[in-house]
Amino acid sequence: MGTDDLSLNPNIRSAETVEFQKSLRAKIVGQDEAVQALVELFQVFTAGLNSPGRPVGNLLFLGPTGSGKTRIVEAAAEILFGSPRSVIKIDCAEFQHSHEIAKLIGSPPGYLGHRETHPLITQEALAAYHTDKLKLSFLLFDEIEKASDALWQLLLGILDKATLTLGDNRRVDLSQTVIFMTSNLGGSDISDLFAGGYGFIKSEDKPQTDIHEKVERTAVEAARRKFSPEFMNRIDKMVVFRPLRRDELQSVLDIELGMVQKRVLDTATGKFLFRVTDAGRDFLLREGTDQRYGARHLKRAIERFLVYPLANLLATQQVRMGDLVRVDWDGVHDELTFVREREGAIVTAEAPAEETVGASPSADGLGKAEPVEAVSEEPARPAALPAASPAAARQSLQGRKKDNR
Ligand SMILES: Nc1ncnc2c1ncn2[C@@H]1O[C@H](COP(=O)(O)OP(=O)(O)O)[C@@H](O)[C@H]1O
Ligand SMILES: [Mg+2]
Repeated sequence: MGTDDLSLNPNIRSAETVEFQKSLRAKIVGQDEAVQALVELFQVFTAGLNSPGRPVGNLLFLGPTGSGKTRIVEAAAEILFGSPRSVIKIDCAEFQHSHEIAKLIGSPPGYLGHRETHPLITQEALAAYHTDKLKLSFLLFDEIEKASDALWQLLLGILDKATLTLGDNRRVDLSQTVIFMTSNLGGSDISDLFAGGYGFIKSEDKPQTDIHEKVERTAVEAARRKFSPEFMNRIDKMVVFRPLRRDELQSVLDIELGMVQKRVLDTATGKFLFRVTDAGRDFLLREGTDQRYGARHLKRAIERFLVYPLANLLATQQVRMGDLVRVDWDGVHDELTFVREREGAIVTAEAPAEETVGASPSADGLGKAEPVEAVSEEPARPAALPAASPAAARQSLQGRKKDNR
């Protein structure tokens, strides 16, 4: 060893990678392995070390429904490219027939309708969200177990050569693209492992690592049974998502409520705060999650039981800028109730920022709020406001839940 030798630490990450990881962690509950996989990929790409002539990464996400497989791709896209829409998402079930494949790659010249088809995967579409600093794209094949043979062939080609030939023979280069694939394959077997819930597993005193290994094996075996070796060989990394525990589902709810609060603060007329009590949260969790479908219906439950009623309250001027609305649960009618706790909450000295929900309505949102003229010194008016009927909403939600299964 020469005297100039310097010991290096390959475990230190760049500031932008650390930032990316932090942002992703804030949006995704649990699923550490998946977060880790994305962070490593990002680090390799920004260092310019991804292998040429191949996609930046071929990632396969396995595991039960509603555990965040699709969400993590959208969340990463949001962070890196500023919009969840920046990922080109292909719902494999929608491309069963050859004319539907044309929607992806366009039809050959001379075919009827050739001029009308705008292929989904083009070089321009991939580059749409590129910036000077980051020339990276995300392509997501969602629920690949539903892919037709034609789509499967197309996918195999992309995974191997990072190129795609469009209907009109133009070539698309995917060497700056991450290919994400998701599959619920083995998901129901995994859910069965957890049929008694995590509590049950713990009470049997099995070490957590045991059950994690079993989950891993169940999913990977299911994938090997279903997918060809030539496909499996082209996957760089397989990540098995875990079913979310109840406390994790609670955290997902907090994140979602934080996003609703942000939406409310972003509207021109509706800068008010809301706070959902524990009983109110339990109600939303019951309606929006379950063992088999994870957090699948959580967003829809929040829209139905919270966002629509809040919109009605706003539209009928029962809630105004600066109000604080408490959302509670009425156990007798099994529905949410809405109470205006006080007016002028945004400008009063005791502005209850930390009392509000979840991922904190940003200080920005509050700061931008226009000052409300008179701050009411009256005691809070706890009148329960008649809102849209959550009971009716729940019925139609359940109706839609069935359609979706
Ligand atoms: N791990 C998670 N972290 C944060 N949100 C999640 C997570 N899992 C599920 N969700 C929520 O549930 C919804 C459905 O999850 P999704 O990613 O579509 O499930 P799937 O695993 O079936 O692709 C997401 O849009 C998100 O709101
Ligand atoms: Mg999905």
